[in-house]
Amino acid sequence: MTQFEKNEINLPLTERKGKALQAESISETSIRELVYAFYDRIQKHPNLGPVFSERIPDWTPHLEKMCTFWSSATMRTGRYSGRPLPVHRGIPDLSAELYHEWLDLFYQTTSEVFTESDAAIFNAMATRMAQNMVHALDLGELRIPKGSGLDRA
Ligand code: HEM
Repeated sequence: MTQFEKNEINLPLTERKGKALQAESISETSIRELVYAFYDRIQKHPNLGPVFSERIPDWTPHLEKMCTFWSSATMRTGRYSGRPLPVHRGIPDLSAELYHEWLDLFYQTTSEVFTESDAAIFNAMATRMAQNMVHALDLGELRIPKGSGLDRA
């Protein structure tokens, strides 16, 4: 298990009101580990891999952008500026099932990189965004994979 920098911050987005939260394992370093490990899995996935490889000629800028996205989302660093929904609207091959598979790989990766409670923060954000996208793109019903940790929230 890798040692990550301790980074104690408040993360108001996903926590119930009044509950102070200490993020034990969230840092730029661990977010980088998450992003690189997750997209490594994505690239090897039979259904998800081609959707990405058809659109991403050079992975480094995408991975760096995703680090800024998760840094902004979980640590409120403001490093990401972009609009994910229009970007995904432009991808023709999306389906609710593909989002299910994306979340499944994401939960697997967060559970390896973060403490259980920190993984639940990432999972909750990813799940909410996936639900919003599936709804906005009119893709039908999103099945939430096992392992989100959201049932503990
Ligand atoms: C089936 C599921 C998904 C697929 C196939 C997918 C695919 C992609 C692809 C191909 C890109 C790069 C597009 C481009 O640069 O032209 C992208 C960008 C991005 N994705 Fe996804 N995505 C999925 C789900 C999600 C989810 C659930 C989230 C959020 C938790 C997310 C967040 C982002 C963000 C932040 C970007 C960068 C947008 C920008 O350019 O600012 N994606 N995605």
